[in-house]
Amino acid sequence: MSEEKIRMNVREGYAKVALQQRSCCGPSSSCCGSAKTADTIAQKVGYSNEDLAASPEGANLGLGCGNPVAIASLSLGETVLDLGAGPGFDCFLAARRVGETGKVIGVDMTPEMVARARETARKGDIRNIEFRLGEIEHLPVADNSVDVVLSNCVINLSPDKPQVFREAFRVLKNGGRLIVSDTVLLKPLPEFLQQSVEAYVGCVSGAMRRQEYIDTVEAAGFEDVHIVKETPFSLDCALNDPMARDAAGNLQVPEKQEVEGCLARILIHAIKREKNAVR
Ligand SMILES: C[S@@+](CC[C@H](N)C(=O)[O-])C[C@H]1O[C@@H](n2cnc3c(N)ncnc32)[C@H](O)[C@@H]1O
Repeated sequence: MSEEKIRMNVREGYAKVALQQRSCCGPSSSCCGSAKTADTIAQKVGYSNEDLAASPEGANLGLGCGNPVAIASLSLGETVLDLGAGPGFDCFLAARRVGETGKVIGVDMTPEMVARARETARKGDIRNIEFRLGEIEHLPVADNSVDVVLSNCVINLSPDKPQVFREAFRVLKNGGRLIVSDTVLLKPLPEFLQQSVEAYVGCVSGAMRRQEYIDTVEAAGFEDVHIVKETPFSLDCALNDPMARDAAGNLQVPEKQEVEGCLARILIHAIKREKNAVR
């Protein structure tokens, strides 16, 4: 698949998620089930009841694979950038921690997601957040302007992962932190998933090998790159993502068994120190 085709499929997939979930949350539908499912998924990947209570309605669609905000040690006044912010769940949690003197910027390339996140911020009158439309490979953010870069279950979707980490390095201030939750491969996926568009959009088949992931972050110039937490990512858990569910809907039991043990979700922490900047 070409890079453009990947972006198009990913954008179309998440546009549907943004719109479907929005209408599902209308008063007359059985949407409570969806909201509850998203909350259950979020709890499974590391969010607390307090996080869920603090997040505005509709911000959590159960699309993350970890809780990067929990290990970001955010302080009042800091500037935070979330790569692939989607409906803004992590942005809204971060905004409470950095306070009125801080700022959170969420970047996403799917217009429907950005519109949804902006609407949630508007409804909640949350003013220290800005959602920008853009690609994480070409961030609409100034050099050396951000204290913390977060990302949750997004970089696996990028057709140019080294470029994403170079961009994260560019926008971080000296001493800034990179905190990423993502899916990685522990062993190659079976052929039938490697070729599946739905599995790519569902955060499965775009994943890199774990060591390659760390090497890529280091190659962008980051230091102290380490995995804070690693959890096996069972197919059942991966299928929480609505896109991955589409991918695996027709899988038979032996095929499902082949996939088990291939994926993990990791939380990575790294630091930018200017002397190692890659120009
Ligand atoms: C699995 S969702 C995660 C959303 C959010 N981080 C969360 O945890 O709720 C992936 C999001 O990344 C966005 N995305 C994927 N690839 C992107 C890219 N190359 N540039 C910008 N956004 C991207 C999608 O539009 C989608 O909103």
